[in-house]
Amino acid sequence: MKIKSQLSTIIQKALKDANIETTDDIVISDATKPEFGDYQFNGVMRLAKQLKRNPREIATDVVKHIDTTTIISKVEVAGPGFINIWLDNNWLANQTTQIVNDKRVGIGSVDTPKRVVVDYSGPNMAKQMHVGHLRSTIIGDTLATLFEFLGDDVIRQNHIGDWGTQFGMLIAYLEEQGADTDQNLKDLEQFYKDAKAYFDKSPEFANKAREYVVKIQQHDPHCLNLWQKFIDISLQHCEEVYDKLGVKLTRDDVRAESFYNPQLPKVIKTLEEKGLLVDSDGAKCVFLDESQPPVIVQKGDGGYLYATTDLAALEFRAKELKANRICYVVDARQSNHFKQIFTIAKKADMVDNSVQLEHIAFGTMMDKSGKPFKTRDGGTVKLIDLLDEAVIRAKETIKQRDSYSDEKELDKVAKAIGIGAVKYADLSISRESNYLFSWDKMLSFDGNTALYMQYAYARIQSIFRKYNKELNGKIVIGDELEHRLAVMILKFEDTLIKASIEATPHTITSYLYDLVTLFMKFYEQNPILKEDVPEDIKISRLLLARLTANIIQKGLNILGIEVVDKI
Ligand code: ARG
Repeated sequence: MKIKSQLSTIIQKALKDANIETTDDIVISDATKPEFGDYQFNGVMRLAKQLKRNPREIATDVVKHIDTTTIISKVEVAGPGFINIWLDNNWLANQTTQIVNDKRVGIGSVDTPKRVVVDYSGPNMAKQMHVGHLRSTIIGDTLATLFEFLGDDVIRQNHIGDWGTQFGMLIAYLEEQGADTDQNLKDLEQFYKDAKAYFDKSPEFANKAREYVVKIQQHDPHCLNLWQKFIDISLQHCEEVYDKLGVKLTRDDVRAESFYNPQLPKVIKTLEEKGLLVDSDGAKCVFLDESQPPVIVQKGDGGYLYATTDLAALEFRAKELKANRICYVVDARQSNHFKQIFTIAKKADMVDNSVQLEHIAFGTMMDKSGKPFKTRDGGTVKLIDLLDEAVIRAKETIKQRDSYSDEKELDKVAKAIGIGAVKYADLSISRESNYLFSWDKMLSFDGNTALYMQYAYARIQSIFRKYNKELNGKIVIGDELEHRLAVMILKFEDTLIKASIEATPHTITSYLYDLVTLFMKFYEQNPILKEDVPEDIKISRLLLARLTANIIQKGLNILGIEVVDKI
């Protein structure tokens, strides 16, 4: 239910009927406290200034013209000219009853669907995927799922780093190591270190490595073959992680840096034609702003850079993939890079001005002491180990509860909880903040955690295991808590829309937390299955419980987190 836009239409009409002319957007806010109603319109103060009139007077006038026969039951002027709005209980009851059996819990599509490219994960093939890539993968996958659910046409792009001089050294070393490629590349981090050590020690090897860099670039079949093998195995490592995470990225979504190689000379030519290119000590540069170093797009030796590839990718996404919105889910430390390539691409007409370009930046993952996340001995934490540990810890957390029929069920629940905990912890903070990684916090039954939501869901399922009858009837709003719960349920759509516009998964987690907290209060105060509860009230409360569970499930599902029936 797009409640805010409906309320905005009603207010707009009231303003017109009260002869108040305005071109302002009518912005409806959530009420800050239950005593201020469900929603508020706070735009009168601004209007009063424009019209040089008393705000309370205007508000009183507008209130008289607000339609209170459909969705609104009551309006009130408060303070200097706020308008508080209460939704009607009958309307709430009807709307909520209608969506109990709807698979989309009443959520429609966005008004103007877009073609959206979401660039996420983007691991580097020369190295093991580490926790740094975790955030991009988790946030990106959630955004892609969210956009898709709301009706956008989503194209996932995994911009993997598969090109660069280091590959000469790596494939030369792969050849040195001989036959068992899989075994050799088991630990990419170690392989890289060994190759580098050998490179530094042996001048012959260093020469061969340099020779191989040139040879791959010249498409020498033997070297390309080795390179392809290397990328393949490296990607398999990543896919293991995607699989554990339940992330939807596939090989079809991979469009690697190397894919853009043939386009790079054209990028330089375009920039040249647009008069944006400056020669600086042999390197080709674009100067954007006096106070900043230039963006180098081609080195003196002819080599291209990360920025050049990104310009080619940007043009490809806008022109070939025909995207209207392009989201880059990449570490905040690359902010400057994206600012620069967005500006250059627009200046050079490589993308149309109407295309929305967004760097969806996120902060660094920190440990409890506030330092970047490392293993005990100071190495980078491997993602796969971290995810396995999450599942083991989740198992410990729930094992004592002893309500599982067999080990298989326990494993399934532990997986949903462990992986869910890691994802939720990441998604629930405002993404640009640095992220403090804490097992205890993320695996807690209380607070804004996945487990809190999953537990609430499981509790509701247990009510239905006890009731176990067909639910026929309708929702009736019996008290203040039920009123607030129904409003909250119907706020789900506005929440998803906001999360999609702002690309903020934490908007969804905050909502789920508020929903579940409210439901728990309702559940404590309004007994459902007690014998003395009249049947129609029982049914109404059961329907509210079912709807809450459906929303928890849908919400977690968008976040890529599974629910379980029993915890
Ligand atoms: N491989 C890059 C890194 O690990 C991330 C790629 C992000 N995407 C892009 N189009 N630049 O830093």
